[in-house]
Amino acid sequence: MTDITPHGSQPAKLGHSPVADVPHVLRATDTNPKAAKRAERQVASMFLLSIILVIAFIVCYVTIDKDTVVYIPVFGEVALLTIMLGLTSGLSILLIGAGAIQWAKKLMPDVEVVQMRHEMASPADATAEAAANYERGKEESGFARYPIIRRTLIGAMALFPIPALFLLRDLWSGGLSGKASPDEILSHTLWRKGERIVVDETYQPIKPEDLPVGGLVSAVPANLMEEQELSGNLDARGKAAIILVRMDPTEIVAQQGDGWDYQGIVAYSKICTHVGCPIALYEQRTHHLLCPCHQSTFDLANAGAVVFGPAARNMPQLPIGVDNEGYLVALDDFAQPVGPSFWERG
Ligand code: FES
Repeated sequence: MTDITPHGSQPAKLGHSPVADVPHVLRATDTNPKAAKRAERQVASMFLLSIILVIAFIVCYVTIDKDTVVYIPVFGEVALLTIMLGLTSGLSILLIGAGAIQWAKKLMPDVEVVQMRHEMASPADATAEAAANYERGKEESGFARYPIIRRTLIGAMALFPIPALFLLRDLWSGGLSGKASPDEILSHTLWRKGERIVVDETYQPIKPEDLPVGGLVSAVPANLMEEQELSGNLDARGKAAIILVRMDPTEIVAQQGDGWDYQGIVAYSKICTHVGCPIALYEQRTHHLLCPCHQSTFDLANAGAVVFGPAARNMPQLPIGVDNEGYLVALDDFAQPVGPSFWERG
């Protein structure tokens, strides 16, 4: 028997409960060497399986094409690589945990200990003193003497949480405030037909020839400066921020609308559809846009599709063209809400 004796505690003998009238039940592994051996094999098998799953994770990572999708009822089309990486890594951790629990329950020493405790109740004079303090405080505050104050205070405290309910309701649906819901707010930006695309910060208008193949520019609508000065509101910037990327037109596989590029220049929202981080990490060779927050990756040559990571929606694309002076302009607002995919948005 292992001597586990916390300070002030007395160990019980194996097979004897230190608690009166509660018999200590021995486990099969305590009395049967075969059962103990079986438990040992079970635990080792779980740890071994965990090792195999880690190897399977690496094999999946190397061999499965990231573009391969499978159809799963309820979830729809899902990247096979994402599923396999999740399954193998999740199960390997689960098996380590399950093995550790099994080890502790079946093989580690099953010892009950009794820890002697001091009397928990306060001495009578301390209790009396606390009660006297309470009565004196009640008297001095006048809580009992001024019933109107007491009742109005109780009323005020009872109603105090109600504003929070209104605020939460606003967050959910726009609520009673008459303001638009978050979904409505994020569905419209400053982009509109003919709005010039300008470089972020400098507000320089952009011509197609300013952007070489492989180049990337962070841009905003030309009307943003005026909007910010008028309202002092930074939301408009957050919603309208885009990146412009130029690629060889023959490399564009798909877009969110016919002819939404201009000679290979495509414009996408800069706000990640996972939880809204701004993105500008672009890999020219693969046309992938990588979010630094949780590694969602979007394929800008393929309609902004999610190729990796937790984002659930394509990156919204902005249709673009040029105006009669040859500057890049938007042809419309985004066709879908920008930003994170809360509120079950499609
Ligand atoms: S915010 Fe972009 S992946 Fe999470």
